Amino acid sequence: MARLINNRYYFDYNATSPLAESVINWFPNGDLLFANPSSIHSSGKKSKRYINDTKRFLNETFKMPSGYKVFFHSGATEGINSLIKGFAQKTFADGERIHFVHSCVDHSCVYNLRAELELYGHEVSTFGVDENGDYDIEEVITLLKKSKKPTLLNFTWVNNESGVVWNLDDLTRIKEETNCFIHVDSVQSIGKIEEWNKLNFAADAYTFSGHKFGAMKGVGFSFIREDFPFCSMMRGGGQQEGMRSGTENTNGIYSLKLALEEIISHQDYERLFTAKKSIEDSISNVLSSEARIVSTKAKKRNGNTIYLILPGRKADVLITAFDLAKMDVSSGSACSSGAILPSRVLLSMGITEEDAKSALRFSFSYSLTLEEAAEYSEKITSILKRFS
Ligand SMILES: Cc1ncc(COP(=O)(O)O)c(C=O)c1O
Repeated sequence: MARLINNRYYFDYNATSPLAESVINWFPNGDLLFANPSSIHSSGKKSKRYINDTKRFLNETFKMPSGYKVFFHSGATEGINSLIKGFAQKTFADGERIHFVHSCVDHSCVYNLRAELELYGHEVSTFGVDENGDYDIEEVITLLKKSKKPTLLNFTWVNNESGVVWNLDDLTRIKEETNCFIHVDSVQSIGKIEEWNKLNFAADAYTFSGHKFGAMKGVGFSFIREDFPFCSMMRGGGQQEGMRSGTENTNGIYSLKLALEEIISHQDYERLFTAKKSIEDSISNVLSSEARIVSTKAKKRNGNTIYLILPGRKADVLITAFDLAKMDVSSGSACSSGAILPSRVLLSMGITEEDAKSALRFSFSYSLTLEEAAEYSEKITSILKRFS
């Protein structure tokens, strides 16, 4: 029997996840951490201890070598803004401007930094993707070599819309040939790809967000190499070695550890991949000839995402049909002032505006089982059949 969340089928794990059981159980039964971890009384020290335990756990889980530090923030939007703008600000303070290189399919928290960076005289270059969502490493290296300025590359490991996974091993060659600084947006990796804790230390920084893997909302973490040029966006009491001032979200930080422990003890990538594949096969069987699944020919896809294009249909109508059948699914389109805007990611992959407005995304939990997949397939295809 499939797990219902608030009596609904939830297929939108790339947007956010429900709290992990370990976090839910900790709230009523655990010893909540109210005290300020900077206080030197016993209660404060206890909060500090939980933060340090979480740090140690993260360093072990990701096998971080010495030379990296970890800091906590309110989630990836803040973490990524902080690292990219912090890099630009530090470089500016040292009398130079930066060259920022990123892709056209990055999350808006990266993409929308372009105008601001340019306003302050920095240079920004954007690389494209092919129809499968893959990039061309030669193009990236050429762009990175274009400028003599201190250069920062943002590399999105797993795409939140298409589920396309980029090859982290490429960063070794990129670093060797260009010596640029590299930040990896790792938000969509945990529980969605096989080796989410195997990082490439050619990169200088990695950012993760708690609410994508069962921890609380409003908390995330970044690993940052000690010599990464960075000046904190948050000035204040100098908490977290000055990397992010502000009283730490202690309960949120500890929830990162609890949620990750749960994933580590229950994950089975083969099971997830097989279960998702069975849903995908069932969907393929009921799709009309012009409908298609996005990025099936990409070099690598994650284990939890199915992204559909249903030409001639409208995403909002489809979502409403699923909603009435108690299923939460997502579109690839943004809704602004009542108008459906086609997804930038799909447009970048050469999909027409009209088709992009028909996109529908299903994203599942890392814990998806074959039994659940059979039930979900039936429910999903019963709706899709009405539109094929
Ligand atoms: C790839 C990617 N980067 C960054 C973010 C921003 O994360 P947060 O919601 O923690 O600010 C998201 C959230 O959807 C994402 O999918």
